[in-house]
Amino acid sequence: MAGLKYMSGFGNEFSSEDPRCPGALPEGQVKHTHTHLPQLPQVCPYGLYAEQLSGSAFTCPRPANKRSWLYRILPSVKHKPFIAAPCGDLTENWNEVEPDPNQLRWLPFSIPTPTKKKVDFATGLHTICGAGDAKSRNGIGVHIYTCNASMVDMCFNNSDGDFLIVPQQGEILITTEFGKMLVEPNEICVIQQGMRFSVDVFGATRGYILEVYGAHFELPDLGPIGGNGLANPRDFQCPVAWYEDRHVAAGYTIINKYQGKLFACQQDFSPFNVVAWHGNYTPYKYNLTNFMVINCVAFDHADPSIFTVLTAKSTRPGVAIADFVIFPPRWGVADRTFRPPYYHRNCMSEFMGLIKGHYEAKEEGFQPGGASLHSIMTPHGPDVDCFEKNSRAELKPERVAEGTMAFMFESSFSMAVTKWGLQTCQTLDKNYYQCWEDLCSHFDPSWKPSKQ
Ligand SMILES: [Fe+2]
Repeated sequence: MAGLKYMSGFGNEFSSEDPRCPGALPEGQVKHTHTHLPQLPQVCPYGLYAEQLSGSAFTCPRPANKRSWLYRILPSVKHKPFIAAPCGDLTENWNEVEPDPNQLRWLPFSIPTPTKKKVDFATGLHTICGAGDAKSRNGIGVHIYTCNASMVDMCFNNSDGDFLIVPQQGEILITTEFGKMLVEPNEICVIQQGMRFSVDVFGATRGYILEVYGAHFELPDLGPIGGNGLANPRDFQCPVAWYEDRHVAAGYTIINKYQGKLFACQQDFSPFNVVAWHGNYTPYKYNLTNFMVINCVAFDHADPSIFTVLTAKSTRPGVAIADFVIFPPRWGVADRTFRPPYYHRNCMSEFMGLIKGHYEAKEEGFQPGGASLHSIMTPHGPDVDCFEKNSRAELKPERVAEGTMAFMFESSFSMAVTKWGLQTCQTLDKNYYQCWEDLCSHFDPSWKPSKQ
C-alpha cells in the first residue's frame, strides 16, 4: 500500500491539504482572490464548505480541548433521514444474560468464509462485553470484528464514543475524512467519536475493539520515568488529507452508531470529500513495536501498569475508564523472583487478547485471535505448568514474549458479558478453570530460613 502518507505526533495541532488542491487550507483571514468564484466572496478557497468536528466541549481547558476544521466539497448535513438498521451482534444491552463471575476464555473467534457469506467490518461487529451507558457518556464496550469483505459505498460513524482497533489477522485499510491509514496486525489505530470511516480488507480479517464513551484516549503520565518512555508521542501517526469528488447515484450509506443502536441514512456522494483540514482531533495509528518497555532490573514484580500504551481517564484520579496495555517482547532479569505474572484479584476488569505468539502465563489454551476475561475480584494467574516451571527456573537474563504480543483492556467498570460472548460465538472454553485445578500445596511447616 505504497503512497500512504502520515504525520507524526500525538494530540498536536496538525494541518493537511490534498496536494491536488494547493492553498485549500485557509491561512488566517487574508483576503482570497476568488477569480473563479466572484459571486461567492465569503466561501473558502476552491469553493469548499467549512465544517467543525468537535471532540470536546467548546469550553474544555486547552489541554483537553479537541476539535478539527474540515474543508469539504459538501457538508455532512446533506443526507436523507436516518432510519433504524439491523444491529447484528452489536449491543449495549448488558442484561441479555445473567451475570457470570467466572474466569472466561475464548478459543479463536471464527471468521466467516466468503463463499458462504460476505461480511464487512460494519456487519462483522460482535459485542462481547461491556458496561455503562452511551446516553450518560460513561462506559465501555469490547467488540470482536470478523469479516472477509470491504465496505462498499458505506461508512461507519460512532456517535457514542471512540474505537481503539487492534487488528489480529489481516491488514485493514481505513479511509477516513482525514485521509487513509493502513493498519496491520501489531499496529493499533484510534477512530475518535464522530469520525466517518470505511474499512477495506484483503482476506480473512479479525481483530478487537475497545470502545470508550465520554473520554478520549491519552498517553499515560510518566511520573518519575521522566520525559521519555512507554509510547512516545512522535511515534503516533495521523493521515494526510485525501479526497474523492464522487457522485454515487445508487446511494452512499452512512451507518451511525447512536445510543447503542445502528441507524443508516443515504446520500448521493462520498463523505470522503475533505480537501483540507486542520486541528488536534484526528484519527491516528501506532506501531506497538515502538513501545519502550520499562521493567524490573533488580528483584520483585512491577504492576502491569508499566505497560500502558493509552489510557481513557475517568474523573477519579488515577482510575481509568479503560487502559490499553501490552506485553511486548523484553528482557526478564529479575533475581529471586517468580517472573511471570503474579496470582491476583483485581478491583478492575481485565479483558485480554493475543495478537500473535504464546503468552508466558498460559502457553497453551490462550491462542491468537482468542480472548479471556477476568472480572472484578475474580482470582486468576499463571496456569499450573507456568507455576511449576518458573518456580524452579534458573534465573538468568532471558528474552520474554519473543514473537508474542498480548494485550489487555483493563477497566474500572464491572463488565457484563453478552449473549454473543457466552453463547452465540460458540468459542467459549468451558474447561478454562481446569488450568488451575492441579495447583498443589507446597506448604512445609518445617521450613527454616537458610543462613546466607
Ligand atoms: Fe490480571
